[in-house]
Amino acid sequence: MADLIDIEKKALKELQEVKNKDNLESLRIKYLGRKGELTLVLRSLKDLPEGERKKMGAKANQVKEKLQQAIDEKFLEFGQESKIDIDITRPGHKAKRGRIHPLTLVERDIRRIFLSLNFSVIEGPELETEFYNFDALNLPDWHPAREAWDTYWIKDGKKDKDKLLLRTHTSPVQVRFMEQHKPPFQIIVPGRVFRYEATDATHEDDFYQFEGLMVGKDINMAHFKYVITKFFEEFFKGQEIEFRFRPSYFPFVEPGIEVDVRFKGGEWLEMLGAGMVHPHVFEAAHYNPREYQGFAFGVGIDRLAMIKYKIPDVRLSYSGDLRFINQF
Ligand code: FA5
Repeated sequence: MADLIDIEKKALKELQEVKNKDNLESLRIKYLGRKGELTLVLRSLKDLPEGERKKMGAKANQVKEKLQQAIDEKFLEFGQESKIDIDITRPGHKAKRGRIHPLTLVERDIRRIFLSLNFSVIEGPELETEFYNFDALNLPDWHPAREAWDTYWIKDGKKDKDKLLLRTHTSPVQVRFMEQHKPPFQIIVPGRVFRYEATDATHEDDFYQFEGLMVGKDINMAHFKYVITKFFEEFFKGQEIEFRFRPSYFPFVEPGIEVDVRFKGGEWLEMLGAGMVHPHVFEAAHYNPREYQGFAFGVGIDRLAMIKYKIPDVRLSYSGDLRFINQF
């Protein structure tokens, strides 16, 4: 105990005489450093009998705190905050920022533009039945056009129209939605689709589409042309894009068309299929085809991204390569 009181007195006295920061730091080390006088006393406490240890411990901690505080105050007098050394000229650590995938950027644009045109956004199941993916879309099982959609079938023993598959397009959601809602309405349906086919620069076997469907009493092709033109103008704003309509065939529309897009003078890329909803599709959804008309379309989201961001190969989107994603 006497030692402790001695150390305290000695240290405080020396502190009075300290002239600069270096002296002060030496003093701090002398008493509070790893092998400092006070530190050694504190460390030796463990060898004392319990009663004594308590008394000595309390006093030793008290002395330590007092001394530390006195030293800190002195450091402040010398214009340095304790021992903390701040160099404001040191370069900072750059925080890594994540990037948003181009397909997500495109989908956000699609939602924004169609919401502004008063469309609602609907979703549907990726695991679909043969009925919704094909039959209800005027594609009975003998129909040769089924070949356009090479299908991943699910082996689960289900039969006929309940047979399960991975949807090959977003069109089945047309019928699902119409079964539950009465016209007039206008919806878009973004989602993932799957095709059992070989891939190349413009074809994936697992990609994204969005469906559009507008149904009412007097809907016609001119309405479709207006909506899709507005969409392209807004989506490709500031880019020199051309598009063309050409006749095509899909069993679930009549008449059917396709729309291609290109940069001025570049190569055409097929972007979407569309047309007036076929009466058989309305019948499958229990609508009276004499009462309602509508247009439908299905757009490749990956293809939109390819044109907008000049992506040369659709497969890059799924490569998981950060050098690709970090460009967006
Ligand atoms: C369809 O899937 C029809 N359901 C579209 C439709 C809807 C027509 C409503 C009429 C009415 P298609 O197989 O052509 O059609 O695909 C539509 C679009 O998806 C294509 O124009 C293209 O942009 C994109 N697409 C098709 N196959 C691929 C693929 N393998 N990889 C990437 N994009 C594809």
